[in-house]
Parts: sequence; C-alpha cells; structure tokens
Amino acid sequence: MCADWIEHAKRRAAIEAVKNIKDGFIVGLGSGSTAAYAIEEIGRRVKEEGLRVLGIPTSHQALILAIRNGIPITTLHEHPVIDLTIDGADQIDPNLNLIKGMGGALTREKIIASASKNFIIVADERKLVNKLGGAQPLPIEILPFAQPLVTSKIMELGGKPRLRRVENMPYITDNGNFILDVDFGVIENPAELNYRLKVIPGVIETGLFIGMAHMAYVGTRNGVKKITI
Ligand code: A5P
Repeated sequence: MCADWIEHAKRRAAIEAVKNIKDGFIVGLGSGSTAAYAIEEIGRRVKEEGLRVLGIPTSHQALILAIRNGIPITTLHEHPVIDLTIDGADQIDPNLNLIKGMGGALTREKIIASASKNFIIVADERKLVNKLGGAQPLPIEILPFAQPLVTSKIMELGGKPRLRRVENMPYITDNGNFILDVDFGVIENPAELNYRLKVIPGVIETGLFIGMAHMAYVGTRNGVKKITI
C-alpha cells in the first residue's frame, strides 16, 4: 500500500510538468502511474481550457488512458518531431540519468524521448538516488529468440539477469518481446554499461536513459522540486 503523500506527490509533480505544454504542441505521453496523472491533467486542460494538442503514447496503457481522457492521438509517422514528452522514471541520478522500464514500456519510451525537443520526468522523491542501480534492477527488452545468448553475455558483464514473469509466464512487451530485470549492483558508469549492452545481438533496448532528460519535477511531502541540469 502506498502512503497517501506519495500519490499526492506524484499528482503535484505531474500537474506542474503539464504547465509546460503550450497550445498546438505534439506531446509524448509517458507510461506508469505518475505519467498517468499527467495524461489526466492534459485531458482536463483539453476539456476545460480548450488546449489543442496531439498526443503520441509510449504504450498501450498510455494510449487507452489518452483516449479515455479525450486527448487526440497521432503517430511518429505523422509527427516525427515531438515538442515535449512527460514520462516517469524508476530512478533519477543527480545528472538526470535514469533507469526506466519497470512498467515494461522502455523501448517505446526511449524512442519517444529521442524524438522529443524537451523531455521532462515526473516522479516522487523516492526515485532520487546518488547512483543508479543498487537495489533497483535494470530492465532490458530482448528478442525472445535470443534469450540464452543475451543471458550469458549479460552474465559476462557481471549482471544477474532474471526473466520478468507474470503468473509464471514470461511478461510480453507491447512489441512482443521479453524483459530481463538485471541486477548490476551500483552502476558506476551507466553510459559505458548502456553501450556494452546495446551491442549484444538480441538486445532491443535498455532502461538506461543517459543524457536524455532535460528537467524533472519531483513531488515531495511538502511540494514539488524542479531539477534541471
Ligand atoms: C514504464 O516502463 C517505466 O519506465 C515508468 O516510467 C516507471 O516504471 C515509472 O512508473 P511509476 O510512475 O508508476 O513509478
């Protein structure tokens, strides 16, 4: 059970972030519970303020939520450049490097973030860390066919991979792939680790988002902290 302050903190952070959206924006819609508050707030602004935006969802979950909240949807094909994306994170370091992917949407999230002129993170303060990793595993999306190879290559890099499962069956991403949650301990050099993982055949994407986020709104017990680099 989440303490009440956490839900308030997430919502407040999301509401602050949504204030950055201007009329006519193409907006990347993130996944997870904090990004969901942002989608609700965008929907409220569309309804109550007549805000005109087009949303590009990062997951099936975000798509459904956007439709329910009355946000018109578009695609990267129609709008390859996104004005602003608001998304959550599982860990945030002082340089705004991130671990993402506990919701399983990391590949589309990274594509949408890469297409964005501005990438804003929303989270509660439990997500702030000095160094990435530690108790937080790193989600990695992999091609199911390549699971044995990727698993052994990751172990050679010092990781302890665990196949994500739901009700004892492999978790399947929106792209039809598997997720490995990998314990790397504290990640001293996230950029290098990301590179080493990305060159393994069968690795689709990693949950390391290095140098991508421009700003974070972090909900605390008392308010919202804005972090920029
Ligand atoms: C989804 O794949 C993740 O990257 C989410 O952004 C992350 O899990 C944050 O979710 P919460 O806001 O629910 O913590």
